[in-house]
Parts: sequence; C-alpha cells; structure tokens
Amino acid sequence: MTKLFLETLNGNFSARPPFWFMRQAGRYLPEYRKLRAKLGGFLDMVYSPKDAIEITLQPIRRYHMDAAILFSDILVIPDALGQNVSFVEGTGPVLDPVTSVADLKSLSVNNLHTHLNPVYQTISGLRKELPDDVALIGFAGAPWTVATYMVEGHGSKDHTAAKDWAYGDEAGFSALIDLLIDSTSEYLIAQVNAGAEALQIFDTWAGSLAEGEFDKWVIAPTREIVRRVKAEHPEIKIIGFPRGAGIGYERFVKDTGVDAVSLDAGVPLIWARDVLQPHVVVQGNMDPRLLVTGGSRMTDQAQKIMSTLNDGGLIFNLGHGITPDVPPAHVGDMAALIKGWSKN
Ligand code: CP3
Repeated sequence: MTKLFLETLNGNFSARPPFWFMRQAGRYLPEYRKLRAKLGGFLDMVYSPKDAIEITLQPIRRYHMDAAILFSDILVIPDALGQNVSFVEGTGPVLDPVTSVADLKSLSVNNLHTHLNPVYQTISGLRKELPDDVALIGFAGAPWTVATYMVEGHGSKDHTAAKDWAYGDEAGFSALIDLLIDSTSEYLIAQVNAGAEALQIFDTWAGSLAEGEFDKWVIAPTREIVRRVKAEHPEIKIIGFPRGAGIGYERFVKDTGVDAVSLDAGVPLIWARDVLQPHVVVQGNMDPRLLVTGGSRMTDQAQKIMSTLNDGGLIFNLGHGITPDVPPAHVGDMAALIKGWSKN
C-alpha cells in the first residue's frame, strides 16, 4: 500500500497533504496519562519497547495520521553517553551539567547502541504493528539543542551557559558538538537499520543563536549528520526543524542537504512557498495554540496553510508540539478537515 507521507517526501504530491502532529503522543491523551500514572518514570517508558510501541500507536488509533513518530525523547543521547538525565514531574528534564572539556571525559559513545537497543526494538516492533499506510518517523535532537540541555542542566529560554561556552571557548564547545555529531549520526543510522522510514532532526533552540553562530552550531553540524546518514542510507528522507531560524531557514535548506523542513508558526506562508518550497518539501506550521482554541479560528488557518502550500510539497503539521491542554476532539476535527480537503 502506498504511504502518502513517503510519497510526498519523494516528490509525488497528492490532492490533500499527508499530516502528523509533533508530540502527537503525550499528555493531552487520557490513555497516555493513564499509562504514565501506572508505569511511573518517563525514561522507563521510553526504554520499554512494549510501552513505547503502545504509546506511539495511541494517537494513530484515534486519528489515523499518515505518519507515526517513535515515542522517545531527544535526551536519550546524553543519557546514553553517560550523563545523568531524569525527568521530574512538573519541572521537566534535569541533567548533571557538563560545562568544560574536563567534564566531557565522563561521557563516551562506547555504550551507545547497548543503551539504545530498546529504542531500536521499539522501531522494529512498530513496523510490524502499524497500519500499512502509516509511515514511521525516527528522530533525534540536533547537536546545538541537545547541548543546551547538557550544559544548562535543564530547559532554559536564553541558553546563557551554552552560549558562554560556545562563544568563549570555541574549541572546547566544538568537542561537545563533535561528540553529539558522532553519536547522533550513529543513532539515526541504527534507527533506519531497525526500520525507521524517515527521520526528523529537532533543533528547537536554533533561533537563539547570533548570525555567524547559527552557521557554526546549527547548519554545519546538521549538514554533517545528513551527510553521514545518507552515506549509509542514500534513500532516506530527512526533515530538519531549525525552529525560530527566521530568514536563516533559507540558508538552512540550501546548505544542510535536508529533504524537507519543518516550519515554526512564525514563518510567513507566501515566503515559504516562494523561497523554500522550490528546494524542499515544507512541513508545518499551524500555531499549536489554535488547537486549544478550536473552531473556525483553527480550521480557517489550516485551510490557509493548505491552499497556500499544497501546490508544492507539503506535510501538514504544527509549528511546535501539541501541549497537554489541547482537547482531543480538536485534534479529531483537524484530522477530518485535512482528510476531506481538496483545493477546489
Ligand atoms: O509524539 C512525539 O512527538 C514523539 C515523542 C517526543 C517526545 N519528546 C516525548 C515527550 C519527541 C519527538 C520529543 C522531542 C523533544 N524532547 C524536544 C524537541 C521538540 C520540542 O518539543 O521542542 C525537546 C526540546 C525535548 C526535551 C523535553 N522532553 C522536555 C523539555 C520535556 C519536558 C517538557 C514537557 O513537555 O513535558 C520533555 C518530556 C517529554 N517528552 C514528554 C513527552 C511525551 C512529557 C513527559 C511526561 O511527563 O509524560
């Protein structure tokens, strides 16, 4: 059976765009919250193939998106490198910060695949269980974004510690980024070996860097990961998500080698159509707050995205992840709208 999501990435566009939603598995779903309460630790669920398969399938059962995204997290890489990572209820991720080249000595790629083997099992299990027309997306965080968590030790909006290291000791910070390029490339290649059919690289904090720094810490590492993954798997399609990059999106699509780019909600649709779509498939970009709003404000914007961008390559998605306060019924309304959509 054909998979609309992969067809679009391969340049065969359809009357309606394929769709999935970032963070489509998660706390807005009562069945997720129930399992989470029963099972306890977030990372324990990620490293349990049985639970991770179930959680990945939950939104597909309800809404039959065109793609499922592996249930995992971008912070499994620092965890696999030997940094202490935990997810604290109400706080988010907490890590023992690494702030110097000396700290890097405690990290190593030696156990990467042993540690992440459950994730690979989740992927191969999902390929057996997913409906024939649903594609499976593997993913990782981009080096810059993962580094912000590793260096700050928690989520932050200004990334002062990571920037102070990057700007003040370029060679030292490069050693961390190189470690992340190595481990992330290996991890993504192993995901494809296990059965992932496309990949997304999340660079949530790409928009926080100054101009030259964006090229150094976002574009160059992403280009190198894309090169290494494609050297092993030339056919695999890779979606980049340099969130908040502004006009930097144009350099990102031209210089990294990604096949598609995920747009945050701030990217103007006509600019995306004229400047980005000639080079890559675009994905996005409805403001996730509109999924909370619902009704005609939500559906009008979805129609505007589709009528502006669906003459070229479009994967319908949000500009960032679904939040826990989204009513599941609104997600159902969106799924129905997109499945029933055609331009005229
Ligand atoms: O459904 C999916 O999209 C697949 C799974 C997925 C998760 N995290 C599950 C998750 C994906 C693709 C991610 C990516 C991720 N994780 C990013 C990049 C995308 C983005 O949203 O910007 C980032 C920055 C992280 C790091 C992270 N993980 C934070 C900051 C948090 C805490 C904030 C929050 O939303 O709880 C997490 C936890 C997390 N990752 C949850 C889920 C379902 C919630 C865990 C829970 O408490 O049950």
